[in-house]
Amino acid sequence: MTDHQDMALDWMSDGADAPPPPVDLRPEIPHPARMYDYYLGGKDNFPADREAAEKVLGLSPLVRISALANRAFLQRAVRHLAEQGVRQFLDIGTGIPTAGNTHEVAQRVHPDARVAYLDNDPIVLVHSRALLAGTGHGGVTVLQADLRDPKAILSDPQVRSVLDLDRPVALLLFAILHFIDDADDPYGIVRTLVDALPSGSYLAMSHGTADFSTPDQAAKGPAVYRNATAQLTMRSREQVLRFFDGLELQEPGLVTAPLWRPDQPAQPTDGEVAIWAGVGRKP
Ligand SMILES: C[S@@+](CC[C@H](N)C(=O)[O-])C[C@H]1O[C@@H](n2cnc3c(N)ncnc32)[C@H](O)[C@@H]1O
Repeated sequence: MTDHQDMALDWMSDGADAPPPPVDLRPEIPHPARMYDYYLGGKDNFPADREAAEKVLGLSPLVRISALANRAFLQRAVRHLAEQGVRQFLDIGTGIPTAGNTHEVAQRVHPDARVAYLDNDPIVLVHSRALLAGTGHGGVTVLQADLRDPKAILSDPQVRSVLDLDRPVALLLFAILHFIDDADDPYGIVRTLVDALPSGSYLAMSHGTADFSTPDQAAKGPAVYRNATAQLTMRSREQVLRFFDGLELQEPGLVTAPLWRPDQPAQPTDGEVAIWAGVGRKP
């Protein structure tokens, strides 16, 4: 990627007529989406992102393992949900596209699966739109939205044009809720979204934790993100479990990401990967 701030968008297939305005990518400020891209081995990041990501990686090599494990969990969970018959996905905090995105996994099971991708970071939109350009993904849309305003998400015409909220939807909140401060009421946000979905819908989510960290690591990780565009709030297993209140937690329950229905034999460190992962069904 070139280091210039204003990038003309490569325009494409989400139904909009006019090209959107240029995007300020703010390359001098670390962005969680681009730091995550760096952990995953991607190239869509700037020096400020790499510098901050390296500081986090210096605290624990498990960070990169956790990012990869989270991504693999996303793919297994989406495949599982599609196999349960889910054909609609509301993926908030999409991240910069990488191999095995939600629509690719879901559409392998149901070619007509529909996906609304939402992220508040403009760089994610630039890349997601470029990925979808000209590929004829009629049932997939990408828009800029903030999880902290769930009512706006639910009433957004672009979301409503792709998803029928009277039929089951899988709400995907992978590695995003740890960017929502307690002050922004993350539990209330999830409740508002889940309440708007019908019975038979699902919540699939993952969340960073300091449950396996030393006190030093637990303090320094969030400190690095203090200069980034979003702050980090790690939560314990018990705190993450609360997001599933009122839902039927699916087997095997809330576990570290590699242990959620693994398709490979578990490794010795899998139980200490710093990401809690679970899927709940709305009764
Ligand atoms: C660590 S990435 C996770 C990407 C993907 N969900 C995954 O698990 O592979 C977190 C994403 O959440 C987005 N994000 C953070 N806070 C957000 C908010 N308040 N609203 C929408 N997106 C947000 C970031 O821009 C970033 O793309």
